[in-house]
Parts: sequence; structure tokens; C-alpha cells
Amino acid sequence: MGKRRAFSRAELPATYHRSVARVFSGVQPSGSLHLGNYLGAFRQWVAMQEEFDCFYCVVDLHSLTVEHDPAELRRKTIETAAGFLAAGVDPERSTLFVQSHVHEHAELAWLMESTIAFGELSRMIQFKEKSAGKSSIRASLFTYPALMASDILLYDTDRVPVGEDQRQHIELTRDAAIRFNGRYGETFVVPEAVLARHAARVMDLQQPSNKMSKSESSPQGTIELLDPPEAVTQKVRRAVTDTDGEVRYDPKRKPGLSNLIELMASVTGRSIEEITSSYSQYGPLKADLAEALVAALDPVRQRYAALMGDPDELAFLLEQGAEKAAGIASKTLARAKEAIGLLPPS
Ligand code: AMP
Ligand code: TRP
Repeated sequence: MGKRRAFSRAELPATYHRSVARVFSGVQPSGSLHLGNYLGAFRQWVAMQEEFDCFYCVVDLHSLTVEHDPAELRRKTIETAAGFLAAGVDPERSTLFVQSHVHEHAELAWLMESTIAFGELSRMIQFKEKSAGKSSIRASLFTYPALMASDILLYDTDRVPVGEDQRQHIELTRDAAIRFNGRYGETFVVPEAVLARHAARVMDLQQPSNKMSKSESSPQGTIELLDPPEAVTQKVRRAVTDTDGEVRYDPKRKPGLSNLIELMASVTGRSIEEITSSYSQYGPLKADLAEALVAALDPVRQRYAALMGDPDELAFLLEQGAEKAAGIASKTLARAKEAIGLLPPS
């Protein structure tokens, strides 16, 4: 008895031994990557590589929560991984992988579903938004935050860089980790969300009360990561503002203009005050913003084209990433299974 333990409690949780904090984040391979993903998530991911041990994941299982096309999912999974690299994720420093290649994600999700309450899931804003008006809703859309919690907890993650829309899911993950640790003993590291200072919620350029998203419903309001310079310039030029003509940051009353100011602050690193005081008209602000966005996105688009030209290399990187991820995930899963009372195999 006691000969075969899946782990030694003395070894873990890993956070007590690490000198470098761990970062985890993910993007779904559905729709096309857009400026919100880039400014709200990717740019933080890239900056964090300098300091932290980062895991970046194409969360393909999450894309099964809404209607999907199998062939398209496969294609988007590769494209999304290429998007990470094009945006500056460095596979030498960060671990890049596909969620379904590491089976522990789906397995821990069951334990998390058995930790999180129905009522908690019912309060998720994203569930309410994505299920509104739909006659058929997949059960996985409802339980999705349990899978997301498992993504994060498997890696003993300290920080999760995400856009504002994911804050509620991270809160739930924290609550679930704390509850699990309290009931079954210290098992998970409790993570925290890291939001971008500006552009944590990039709004649609045509309907500035909606966040920019992958839905194809607003092509003119969405700047895609791979849009050519002319398209970027045209979309910024046509962005909806208001008629009072005053350059002022006021997201409530002037959502369109405030979004443009926020984008400018995010791409240039300048402060909101600096920007509002250097423009007296909308036209020049739009022109400079378009130029700054083109300068930021053009190299991304070029790198993307090069990456998509070498699918073998990409597949190799993803395989390596999954191997490394699985090495960590398998230990956390074993720890969680034992803690919750599942009999380890002998
Ligand atoms: P998704 O595209 O929904 O898989 O989101 C991937 C990442 O991009 C998450 O961290 C989101 O929070 C972030 N994100 C998505 N849309 C926006 C947006 N409009 N503004 C800022 N961040 C966003
Ligand atoms: N739910 C996130 C989104 O829709 C994607 C995601 C899944 C994620 N698992 C994650 C983000 C873990 C951060 C960490 O954008």
C-alpha cells in the first residue's frame, strides 16, 4: 500500500518552487483574428515572454461549443497558431500548443464541472450573450467555463492575460480553485487576470457600443489581423464618431471617438491626455491612427504569410509544444484526481 502514488505531495503545487511566474492564455480557432485579439491579448502575451514562463494555447475544444464545420475547424486551428507566431509569440521561449493535443484538459474539466455550481455557470455573461435567441444550445456552451478553468489550473498558472470580456471567467476559475483547495487540500495555484492597460475592450468601429468580435456580422467595423493596409485605412476613416466635433475622451457619450483614442493610446503607448490634447479635429486623429495601425499590423501580416508557407515547421512546433505541456498537465491532473478521491490505478 502507498507504493504507487501518482505524485509526492512534498513536490507540489509547483508554484512554491518556481522563481519565474507562469502565464497561460488561449484563443479559440473560430472566425478570423482581429484587432481586439491583437491589442487585448497578443501584445501582452508577447511582452510577457520576456519575464515569464508562458503557455499559449489554441483552444479548439472551446470552438465545439457553438455550431461548427469540422474541416473549417481544422483549418482555423492551424491559422490561429500561425497568428500567434506572426504576432510575435516566440516558440523558443514560450510553449505553443493545441488544446485537444493534451487530453488532460478535457479530463480535468469533468472535475471542475463537479466543483462549480450550476448557478455560477448560469450567471456567465458570455453564456447569456451566445445563447440568446438560439433554439438549440450545446450543453458544452454552458459548461465551457469549467473547461477554461481546467486549461488555466493544469499549468499552475499565476497570470492570465486576457481582454475584459474574460474577466468573469477568470473570477470563476479563482473561486473554483479556492473551493477545490479548501475541500480537498492544497492542489491548485490560484491565478489572476491581467488586463491590457488600454484596449482591453476594443469596440466595433461601426457600432461602438458592441465589442469588436469574430462574428462576421460587422465586416466594416472589424479590423482583421490580416487586413491589407488599404482596408485598415478605409475602416478607420469610416469609423462612426459623433457630430459635436470635440476631441474628448468620454466612452459613455462619445463611444466611437473614445474607442479611437483608446486604440491610439494602445498602439503608440501615448497617454489618453497626450492624445486628446494634440488633436482638435477627428480627421487628423483618424489619419494618424490608421498609419500607426498599418505600421503595427503590416509585419504581422508578412510573417503570417511566411509561416503559412511552411506547414511542416508549424506542425513540428505544435507537436513539441504539446509534449512539453502534457508533461506538466499530467502531473497536475494526477494530483487533482487523487485529491478529489479517485483511486489511483495500481
Ligand atoms: P476570442 O477571440 O474570444 O477567443 O478571444 C481571444 C482573446 O482576445 C481573449 O483574451 C479576449 O479577451 C481577447 N479579445 C477578444 N475580443 C476583444 C476585444 N474586442 N477587445 C479586447 N480584447 C478582446
Ligand atoms: N474563453 C476564452 C475566449 O473566448 C478563450 C480561452 C479558453 C482562454 N481557455 C482559456 C483564455 C484560458 C485564457 C485562459 O476568449
